[in-house]
Amino acid sequence: MKLLITGGAGFIGANFILYWMNHHPDDSIVNFDKLTYAGNLENLKTLEGNSRYTFVKGDITDGSCVDRAMDGVDTIVHFAAESHVDRSITEPAPFVTTNIIGTQVLLNAAVKHKVKRFHHVSTDEVFGSLELHSKEKFNEQTRYDPRSPYAASKAGSDHLVHAYFVTYGLPVTITNCSNNFGPYQFPEKFIPLAITNIIEGKKVPVYGDGLYVRDWLYVEDHCRAIELVLQSGKAGETYCVGGLSDDISNIGVIKKITHMMGKDESVIEFVKDRPGHDRRYAIDWSKIRRELGWKPEYDFDSWLEKTIVWYKENKAWWKHVKTGEYQTYYKQQYG
Ligand SMILES: NC(=O)c1ccc[n+]([C@@H]2O[C@H](COP(=O)([O-])OP(=O)(O)OC[C@H]3O[C@@H](n4cnc5c(N)ncnc54)[C@H](O)[C@@H]3O)[C@@H](O)[C@H]2O)c1
Repeated sequence: MKLLITGGAGFIGANFILYWMNHHPDDSIVNFDKLTYAGNLENLKTLEGNSRYTFVKGDITDGSCVDRAMDGVDTIVHFAAESHVDRSITEPAPFVTTNIIGTQVLLNAAVKHKVKRFHHVSTDEVFGSLELHSKEKFNEQTRYDPRSPYAASKAGSDHLVHAYFVTYGLPVTITNCSNNFGPYQFPEKFIPLAITNIIEGKKVPVYGDGLYVRDWLYVEDHCRAIELVLQSGKAGETYCVGGLSDDISNIGVIKKITHMMGKDESVIEFVKDRPGHDRRYAIDWSKIRRELGWKPEYDFDSWLEKTIVWYKENKAWWKHVKTGEYQTYYKQQYG
């Protein structure tokens, strides 16, 4: 099988490529990525020279470039996106361009090339926000109610993907997952920011009162979920993917990290809240468990410990990212 992975130099895409190359030795992968600030080819250093892996620097809004990259491809896994909520509040335009228009360009090419599966990676943020302390969870029937420019652009892309199934019969699947964490996550995001700040002896910023609730999904569990959806998921279907069964607040996560890293809570610093900050996300992942037999491999604490170990052992990687030096890597490697 030949897969086109969009956004494969980003956090989840890179983890997915490494996972797939390991578990599917007969398959080949084209990694199509624009290399924005979030794309980092150092994540995939181990694949350099591997004949089953090709990197194409390209923008998903560029129809002719996408068309060329899709030659001979059976399966698309679409990760490429502008993905950071805070950045979408400061500058929404690139979110609309990449997440909506880029997805539509890919869908058009997928129809033309008659791909066997177009898998779209989306977020639980399209469903809006839940009440703190309620028992309600998002599921595949939850009405869309996006509340940030990021979430609205992902919602738009989900609707387009579904529309291409209905209108053109393109065999699509969608996963709406919760917050991922694990190796190679850009250290502006919540968990790696906390871990790397503690290693550097800095304070750990927490928005508002810290009583925001998120579901946390370890990135490798997410990769296995996508693998199962590609292998056994039904075209036209959406699957919600999450990692937890019980709520945990952001401040609860930070306290776990500080304790696991042998620090006290004085490292925590409450900072001005994000506008329109969604209070609670919780995700009911019973459909993918029931229909495809997926569940997280370990519990949250075990995955968190492993993540802390990874950031402790890979200081050079995140120091490069924090200083922006990773951007020179592509130039050095590829001219
Ligand atoms: N990280 C999470 O917790 C999370 C949770 C739910 C859903 N998602 C979704 O998963 C996907 C991957 O997220 P991530 O955290 O790995 O993102 P990321 O920001 O780490 O990586 C995104 C990648 O897409 C590339 N890209 C951006 N614009 C592009 C364009 N126009 N053309 C080609 N490539 C482009 C970037 O260079 C980067 O490599 C996204 O679609 C995101 O919405 C992420």
